[in-house]
Amino acid sequence: MDFIHVFRPPAHPGGPILLLLHGTGGNEEDLVPIAEMLLPEAGILSPRGKVLERGMPRFFRRLAEGVFDIDDLKLRTAELADFIVETAALREFSARDVIAVGFSNGANIAGALLLLRPEVLGGAVLFRAMVPLTPETLPNIPGTPVLLSNGRLDPLVTAEETEKLVSLLRSAGADITLSWQNSGHELTQRDVVTAKEWLAQRG
Ligand code: MLT
Repeated sequence: MDFIHVFRPPAHPGGPILLLLHGTGGNEEDLVPIAEMLLPEAGILSPRGKVLERGMPRFFRRLAEGVFDIDDLKLRTAELADFIVETAALREFSARDVIAVGFSNGANIAGALLLLRPEVLGGAVLFRAMVPLTPETLPNIPGTPVLLSNGRLDPLVTAEETEKLVSLLRSAGADITLSWQNSGHELTQRDVVTAKEWLAQRG
């Protein structure tokens, strides 16, 4: 296992596993309290991003703010997908029970997983996500539930970028819910409440 990570089994075998993906400069502990609020009985798989940007962990390299190193993104997405598959085999859970919960850079690699390796996720909650990349061929992910929760006042993610991500995932067949928050790039209580309700509706 070559990601530093936190793992906790779900309260009931076969229960959901939240794949927690932190933002730039975060670590594997960051989103654990959020997961406990979202779905307390869920299991947790929370890796730390392996790329360091001036000492700050990320899930893939970027060339500038919002400009991604696409080759590195593809490689890191494959590595993370393989890690999920290996952990699922070792810990005896199914990848279909894995729901990604990502913030910012973590939401962007979760988006890349949906576009490049969708078989490792059953769904995703994306907080402040951008279009990570445009794949050569769209995946076929009919009905995969995705919540996108972005901020109207986010200086890093424009409304246009958000709409682009929605239409990309929708064209791939995902069942996407877009929720706008009256906030910037930071995660708010409203995001957590929205995601909690969305997850509860999905049983
Ligand atoms: C970040 O700060 O993480 C960016 O806004 C998103 C990214 O680089 O993936």
